[in-house]
Amino acid sequence: MANVAVIGSQWGDEGKGKIVDWLSSRADVVVRFQGGHNAGHTLVIDGVTYKLHLLPSGIVRKGKLSVIGNGVVVNPWALMEEIETVRAQGVEITPETLVLAENANLILPVHPAMDEALEAARGKGKIGTTKRGIGLAYEDKVARRGIRVCDLRHPEFLKEKLEALLVHHNALLKGLGAPEIDLNQTHDDLLAIGEQILPFSGVVWKILDEARHQQKKILFEGAQGMMLDVDHGTYPFVTSSNIVAAQAATGSGIGPKAIQYVLGITKAYTTRVGAGPFPTELNDEIGNRLGEKGHEFGTTTGRKRRCGWFDAVIVRQSVKVGGIDGIALTKLDVLDGLDELKICTGYELNGEKLDYLPASQVDQANVKPIYETLEGWNESTFGARSYADLPAAAIKYIRRIEELIGVPASVLSTSPERDDTILVEDPFFV
Ligand code: GDP
Ligand code: IMO
Ligand code: MG
Repeated sequence: MANVAVIGSQWGDEGKGKIVDWLSSRADVVVRFQGGHNAGHTLVIDGVTYKLHLLPSGIVRKGKLSVIGNGVVVNPWALMEEIETVRAQGVEITPETLVLAENANLILPVHPAMDEALEAARGKGKIGTTKRGIGLAYEDKVARRGIRVCDLRHPEFLKEKLEALLVHHNALLKGLGAPEIDLNQTHDDLLAIGEQILPFSGVVWKILDEARHQQKKILFEGAQGMMLDVDHGTYPFVTSSNIVAAQAATGSGIGPKAIQYVLGITKAYTTRVGAGPFPTELNDEIGNRLGEKGHEFGTTTGRKRRCGWFDAVIVRQSVKVGGIDGIALTKLDVLDGLDELKICTGYELNGEKLDYLPASQVDQANVKPIYETLEGWNESTFGARSYADLPAAAIKYIRRIEELIGVPASVLSTSPERDDTILVEDPFFV
């Protein structure tokens, strides 16, 4: 029996929410361990859609414990709003079903304000962040001036910390020509929201340690995707956290041996939202078709996602760097009806062939994809629930991907609906 970590293997939006929700029937505890409300995870259950940003995707199942770990940056107002939205959809959320790590860092109003001002100042070099203040909150954490959930219990101490934090940011905001943030207002607002979120706070590392000793199954839910990892992604066009499965341990307070299987969620083609290199991007009819058929609009910001062919180079790299044991291949149905499909198997850079994505921003902008072409299929795979329902050309496409990335497709997904999923190898029992 294993604990499983789910991570995105591309640039996010691979379908992590759907797969985590589906897998969570087998788990006891579901844990978010990095990112924040920049994430947008979509679940569709019997035609009802749930859009989650901070809440773990296990929240909709009764009898599961949902945990927001210390590695997540938490906007307390966004959290309460999301809790209310999901409660309004009939989901019960109480301190018995949701625990927020007391040592998680908070996103304060100054963080999105700075995010916005910095993006504007970057001009053409902008990252295309979600403007949620994610990067700024992580900066404050590492700079050791961050405000944490547990600080909300100590009003005077909170004010001192807040003052130091705002001295820093207000100087920058002034320099950027943006309005400054008021100390007293932020303090009052934080104390008010603290009353609402503190009942959910808990000692997550202890809860997970106990769960482990009781042989409970833990499912770790990653946000974003490997190519957005702050170390291993397309830096600086990345988010500000680590996405790799190792982060599931640091971001929740459990040892690395607690994770036995890493499932990499992988879209059957490639998308990216925001700026940055994207070697297999298609600025043509096929790219538009993928976007339309795949409904490729951001769950969090509504922005149009850029679309392109499957890039086996980046997924292979994610498999190795992220510690991925098997993938869940999603959105296969979106490829239905294409005459032929291309897979990027390597890059060309300055006349040389590469089997990996180099780290340099300059090189990443210049690599050209080397493609191989596969036959498409006309049959519909939408909603297929077994391998027997898939056309031979689709199976060939999957097999080729497995060969190129070096790990099996353990799960296949053929529609947004929870149960339109094909299980090949159960990650909890390998
Ligand atoms: P996440 O951020 O990785 O959780 O992914 P998002 O929820 O942002 O985006 C994935 C989108 O694809 C959502 O709208 C899902 O409902 C949808 N989706 C997931 N799996 C499939 C699939 O196999 N087929 C189709 N057509 N849509 C899917
Ligand atoms: P899920 O969990 C796709 C992207 C942003 C931007 C970059 C930095 O739904 O897969 P940030 O606000 O994090 O500082 O933005 O990262 N980004 C995502 N792209 N899916 C996500 O999450 C993302 N979270 C952040 O578009 O390019
Ligand atoms: Mg998403």
